[in-house]
Amino acid sequence: MTLLKAATDVRENAHAPYSNFKVGAAVRAVSGKIYVGCNVENVAYPEGTCAEAGAIAAMVAAGETELIEALVIADSPMPVSPCGGCRQKLAEFGAGNVVVTMTTLAQNSAEMTLAELLPGAFTAEHMEGQ
Ligand code: THU
Repeated sequence: MTLLKAATDVRENAHAPYSNFKVGAAVRAVSGKIYVGCNVENVAYPEGTCAEAGAIAAMVAAGETELIEALVIADSPMPVSPCGGCRQKLAEFGAGNVVVTMTTLAQNSAEMTLAELLPGAFTAEHMEGQ
């Protein structure tokens, strides 16, 4: 199983009746295992969750806290870009050199590291001395 196949498959399960924009995400943990998530929208719009958040939650629920690769896919004209909140969520569990592949069903792909996606990330170091 590849990250691309895993994210493409789980995207089908997205609950996106409000945006009609289905997203799939897959992360590979340091164990090598792949965890997946899809966006889950809610009629109370702010309660919806992103695909990346679902994949990270699945990884943590399985007892893993380090991701070494991530991929996100949507049926968009350009590679789908993780939202700001998801960049922070990914950075919680991935090092700056972790590569995030952003792609589309038509395989229009781009790659960026977590450090590139979230420059100046808020980290535990900012709370030192508290
Ligand atoms: N969405 C994701 O799940 N991940 C992204 O990286 C971008 C946006 C979802 C949130 C919402 O359900 C829909 O896409 C439209 O914003």
